[in-house]
Amino acid sequence: MYRPLSSLALLLAATACTTMNRESPATTAMVAPVLTTADAVDDATFARPQVARVTHVDLDLALDFAAKAVGGTATLDVLAAPDAQTLVLDDRGLVITRITDMAGRDLPYTVGTSVEDKGAPLTIEMGPGPINRKIRIQYSAAPGAEALQWLSPEQTAGKQHPFLFSQGQAILNRTWIPTQDSPGIRQTWTARITAPEPLDVIMSGVRQGEPEDIGNGRRAFRFAMDKPVPPYLIAIAAGDIDFQSVGPRTGVWAEPVTLARAAAEVGDTESLVTAAEGLYGPYRWGRYDMIVLPPSFPYGGMENPVMTFLTPTFIAGDRSNNGLVAHELAHSWSGNLVTNAVWADSWLNEGVTSYFENRITEQVYGKKRAEQEAALAFAGIEETLAEVGADAPGTALHHKTSGEEIGSAITYDKGHFFLRTVESIVGRERFDAWLRQWFDNHAFQPATSQMFYDDMMRNLVASQAEADRLALREWIFEPGLPANVARPDPAAFAEVDAAVEAYERTGTIPARYSDWTSAERMRFLDNIPKQRTNAQLATLDRALGLSGSQNNEIVFLWLELALANRYEPALPQAEAFLARVGRAKFVRPLFQAMWSEGEWGRAQARRIYATTRPGYHAVTRGAVDRIVNAKG
Ligand code: BES
Ligand code: ZN
Repeated sequence: MYRPLSSLALLLAATACTTMNRESPATTAMVAPVLTTADAVDDATFARPQVARVTHVDLDLALDFAAKAVGGTATLDVLAAPDAQTLVLDDRGLVITRITDMAGRDLPYTVGTSVEDKGAPLTIEMGPGPINRKIRIQYSAAPGAEALQWLSPEQTAGKQHPFLFSQGQAILNRTWIPTQDSPGIRQTWTARITAPEPLDVIMSGVRQGEPEDIGNGRRAFRFAMDKPVPPYLIAIAAGDIDFQSVGPRTGVWAEPVTLARAAAEVGDTESLVTAAEGLYGPYRWGRYDMIVLPPSFPYGGMENPVMTFLTPTFIAGDRSNNGLVAHELAHSWSGNLVTNAVWADSWLNEGVTSYFENRITEQVYGKKRAEQEAALAFAGIEETLAEVGADAPGTALHHKTSGEEIGSAITYDKGHFFLRTVESIVGRERFDAWLRQWFDNHAFQPATSQMFYDDMMRNLVASQAEADRLALREWIFEPGLPANVARPDPAAFAEVDAAVEAYERTGTIPARYSDWTSAERMRFLDNIPKQRTNAQLATLDRALGLSGSQNNEIVFLWLELALANRYEPALPQAEAFLARVGRAKFVRPLFQAMWSEGEWGRAQARRIYATTRPGYHAVTRGAVDRIVNAKG
């Protein structure tokens, strides 16, 4: 039933992906099928891939740091149904000057009504023609393109040169790349990017040759991604950056003043890759490099293929936050190889990755650290369910529409505990074999919750009795936490939990705090009473050295606790932290903590935000704007 998808068959190729690929594993040469079942229809794209779909993007762009502008051409390979006349792309604010066919003839186009966040349909009249077409778009991104952050030299660590980075997930790449911006429409890509010397350019693809001098103090860099990827994984960064190898196929880019610390922190990466391969099959992307960005990067990390993007705030000097690297690496299977077809199924990316991350951590750093990190995640699930109610629809893993989801405790941690539960019921050996075949058989293809469920039923579940014990349907499609959940080992934090109790009862400061792991310290700070007097906070800080911690996760928890108690001595540090760090996971809760503290906190929040807002990426700005613009 499976044919190589070199013809229009792929336009209609839709349904039984799970079985067809058992016989014929995906190769990178073929065009990945677009799913057509109702649950795979992406409501966040205007594209109509069944009529005409983009299969390859070739970018030729110039970076202009003075104007904070990027522009040039995008040449698209299009696979069109025989009678297709139009191609629909996603466009959010692009400034289009001209669209032509490859003979240079103008093609008429229209930009439809714009929808908030989603952008507008760009409909191109291709006219009649063959199944394989090519069109060229001359354009530039709008000055405020949300995927891009242009940093002034002062916003970098080195202070000498400007910097640019992009963030595509989920639907931001349509602000700088005219294509079909949907995770189920995989595309190969190539790029030629020019930038002023001495800046270096990296992308989420393989650099082709040496940079070429093109005069005027500019250089051209070429890249290629020959494996079909969802377009949110096209990423770029440019700045004064250097590279340091940390293993045979691993290395890290960073600003020169950050590079040594960055390379020391990610020194385990080669072992992480080897461990991941031992678990779920070969790493299929060639090299695994990373770039440590300036601190305004809005996420901890982003799994851009062959080039994970990382926040510098994970550097603690002791590799204690390397779960982040394990996580982004794991996405090389869950997310980048097998991709959620729609964002409403993003647990297929993030939940499976969180489970995989924990398995890598166990392999490389041992059972104790993995169990502690799992226990922190579990506490987050329980806290969220207590907050929103265990029957809130958003607490299901699968959502009917995007935007329903409640946050990382569900998408990431409930997803993680789902797989952990399945593993505990069927046994590690059977579970690992199943997950590995899931990756192999869906490599370079999109997937849905229903496909995941069907595949488990077909290839994992051995009997009706076992199906009953697993409760797969409940786990994936229903809210709350099923009763069969494989809870974390209560012994994981036995010592810390006793210390929390002692502190709560008698104010005893844990004498062994300095011997604790980073996860143990976080558990302690998470669980002590939230209401503290100034004197109690001063004692805690003095005894545990919280404000002086080298670990930003600890500094963050300290500042959150301090601000929520109007502890004024912490204000200068909070202000400095919020000016230096743009990671939304830290910034948003700190503003929230102030905002919840009545007029005192609101005045502080407004004052601080007025100076820090311009330095934040659009993602972080959006998150804080929602707090300070909220009614009531
Ligand atoms: N893919 C995500 C980042 C992301 C999620 C970007 C949703 C846009 C929309 C990345 O892999 C991630 O999960 N990062 C986490 C890492 C953590 C869970 C170890 C982060 O940034 O905190
Ligand atoms: Zn992730």
